[in-house]
Amino acid sequence: MIPISLRWVGEATGHLELIDQTLLPAQFTWLTCRDVPTVVEAIKSLRVRGAPAIGIAGAYGMAVAAGEAIRGQMAASHARAHVLARAEELATARPTAVNLRWAVERCLRAIDGLPAEADAPALAEALLTEARAIHDEDRRLCEAIGRHGASVLPEGGVLTHCNTGALATGGAGTALAVITAAWDSGRRFEVFADETRPLFQGARLTAWELVQRGIPVTVLCDSAAAHLLKTGRVAACIVGADRITANGDTANKIGTYGLALLAEAHGVPFFVAAPSSTFDLSLETGAEIPIEERAAAEVLRPLGAVAAPEAAKAFNPAFDVTPARLIRGIITENGVVSPVTRERIREVLST
Ligand code: MRU
Repeated sequence: MIPISLRWVGEATGHLELIDQTLLPAQFTWLTCRDVPTVVEAIKSLRVRGAPAIGIAGAYGMAVAAGEAIRGQMAASHARAHVLARAEELATARPTAVNLRWAVERCLRAIDGLPAEADAPALAEALLTEARAIHDEDRRLCEAIGRHGASVLPEGGVLTHCNTGALATGGAGTALAVITAAWDSGRRFEVFADETRPLFQGARLTAWELVQRGIPVTVLCDSAAAHLLKTGRVAACIVGADRITANGDTANKIGTYGLALLAEAHGVPFFVAAPSSTFDLSLETGAEIPIEERAAAEVLRPLGAVAAPEAAKAFNPAFDVTPARLIRGIITENGVVSPVTRERIREVLST
């Protein structure tokens, strides 16, 4: 069964619920979000995470903002100003995944066309409709990505990094959807998941999802990847993306760039899987992508354990950028971008 990472409960005055991913796999708990600060906190602290999923959470967050305006009995102009202010708080909760701003701006466009006198319930209705559309679309995109990806995935073991499954999206996932689609088609192969320091999305979340689905998974320390690739047990690496620029440079979870270099050194094809909402064609190259820096405690006290002296400093970028030249193909809902060039990206995205 494919788990769902977030859901809207009730009608326009309802609320958002999301699985608190910081507690997995030890605890499965739904977090209720009735106000925007709760949604923003959930995005910042990775209770909901993964580029498409934070986009969807941001979109539902806009409906939550309109719900605040209804409860606050705000007049039409005040309600709209409130929603606009909340939009900025949501869009800037995390900087690297472009899906977040993309989804929030799409919701803003949905109320742009409403008359100035549209009241809070009318705004809420329009915002919830748009958020639901973004969520439904993502479900379909994941399915298409899985299908296209399974057709290019070579026979043999697969190594993935971070979590790119149902928890990270509104559907079956991106890179993980490729793996599960290939598995569901009857193919059998070893699946390796990097643990993904410092927050262990691979060990905690990817392994959890695969176990839920009955797919055997082997977790490795990130630093074991070179040795694993040398053994020849991995026929392909496949990862997700948080932002892909016009030339195909790809920001993804820290460690992805290193893995791509290792894959190149061992002659293993390296694939990225992402929906069109993850492309940012306004940026020319990966050098322009803002890279989120996170708290030192994530490195120095992983999972709450004291792993380094209190006085030590930490270097904790949450993402890195893999240059396009290291990527064999980018699997999108429209098909596979390969070779990864500006021209081919534009061609595939416009089909
Ligand atoms: O910091 P996170 O856990 O939100 O990072 C997530 C990733 O880097 C994923 O690989 C990416 O968002 C793609 S999810 C389909």
